Amino acid sequence: PTLTFIEHNGTEHKVSADIGQSVMQAATFASVPGIPADCGGACACATCHAYVDEGWLARLPAPDSTENDMLDCAFERRDTSRLTCQVFMTEELDGLVLHLPASQF
Ligand code: FES
Repeated sequence: PTLTFIEHNGTEHKVSADIGQSVMQAATFASVPGIPADCGGACACATCHAYVDEGWLARLPAPDSTENDMLDCAFERRDTSRLTCQVFMTEELDGLVLHLPASQF
């Protein structure tokens, strides 16, 4: 599947991902800027934060309580906020669009 990251400045990055891979891993592998992912995917840093495009939100499983708590540490949390290390690619998520926040801190 492929996914698209849109930076805060509008720059788009189309990235291919493997099934089961986290969205964060796909972004990191493709060197998408703006996702430092400091904790390496342990749901402990909130620097892999992104906003899920509105049209996709209902198709993602809801965040678990650990992710939800950690999201409170994210920069400018919104209803569409997710930690991308906790979103895993499936065939159904082919085409997923994520918007990157202005900052991760
Ligand atoms: Fe640290 Fe996602 S990489 S919370």
